[in-house]
Amino acid sequence: MPAVPNGVRGAVITGWGTALPERILTNVDLESMMDTSDEWIRDRTGIVQRHVGGTTAGLSTEAGRKAIEMSGCDPADIDALILATTTPDRCVPATASTVQELLGLSCGANDLNAACSGWVYALVNAHGLIAMGADKVLVIGTDTLDRITDYTDRNTGILFGNGSGAALIEAVEGPGQLLSWDLDSVGAAESALFAEIGGVLEMEGKEVFRRAVRLMADSATKALSAAGVSADDITLVVPHQANIRIISASLDRLGIPIEKASVVLDRTGNTSAASVPLALAEALDHARVSDGDLILFVGFGAGMSAASAVVRWSPDAVESNS
Ligand code: ACO
Repeated sequence: MPAVPNGVRGAVITGWGTALPERILTNVDLESMMDTSDEWIRDRTGIVQRHVGGTTAGLSTEAGRKAIEMSGCDPADIDALILATTTPDRCVPATASTVQELLGLSCGANDLNAACSGWVYALVNAHGLIAMGADKVLVIGTDTLDRITDYTDRNTGILFGNGSGAALIEAVEGPGQLLSWDLDSVGAAESALFAEIGGVLEMEGKEVFRRAVRLMADSATKALSAAGVSADDITLVVPHQANIRIISASLDRLGIPIEKASVVLDRTGNTSAASVPLALAEALDHARVSDGDLILFVGFGAGMSAASAVVRWSPDAVESNS
């Protein structure tokens, strides 16, 4: 899988932001909505609460605005907006169009659906646009899964919540942060997790679990190998936040201690395309990486899709803007 070729115009993350709706649905709340318990959900998933409410456009706008403000860039200078989402507010137009207007951008704007892998897909797509001449790309991952979740079904209703995370990616002279990437999809497994238009999420939990662990480990291994680095070299893993047991089992396969992972799922549940940027923002806010450290992004989701990227963190671009 691809290493970023020498000489390709690179990019760095210069700002990030997040948004979560105010309303919280705890495991204890769920006990009165379905046959489950706080203890079971914590033990089997690691989730304690999730946020519900809001719209995909509203949450995206809040997270996107924070990322733009942190970067210090003029919204008029942004060349493209990619919104990774499985839950657009309408079928047509793309919710990215609404967000573009709300943020006052004048640039290309499109939605990207790769389920929970969506933000990592969008990050890689943004680097492609930058290689082709774009200077600044806003990459947002947002899902409002409460609209497609049956909170009376204990197989799925314990897992999902709403949220948004965004990053501003800016071109730099010379090599950028992205060292390598891997994008995967196994369409043959699409029946393991799906929602019909107007329907709710339906899932074969065990099958998703089994495939997720393998897909994450395989995708991450390809990205590590393309970057020419080993699992030991990674300082921070930013995995999709579906289930702490999935994160733990896939990191075991990779030989990476779970302490290196950023984990927010206890407070957010599975927020699909928002989960990786939410976990990234928390790690960056807590200064978990320093100049030169390697970050491994690894996502998986319905499709079944998977996506990984290896990034060498370089805070100079952020500091020069702050
Ligand atoms: N509360 C209480 N008991 C439950 C619940 C619940 N919510 N759900 C299942 N149980 C019971 C079962 O009935 C079963 O009981 P039994 O032994 O008497 O038959 C027992 O608990 C074990 O059930 P399992 O289904 O074996 O539980 P498992 O450990 O597999 O956990 C889970 C289920 C959490 C869904 C797990 O399989 C999982 O996380 N799968 C992956 C899901 C996922 O990540 N989906 C998102 C993908 S990303 C995307 O694109 C949206």
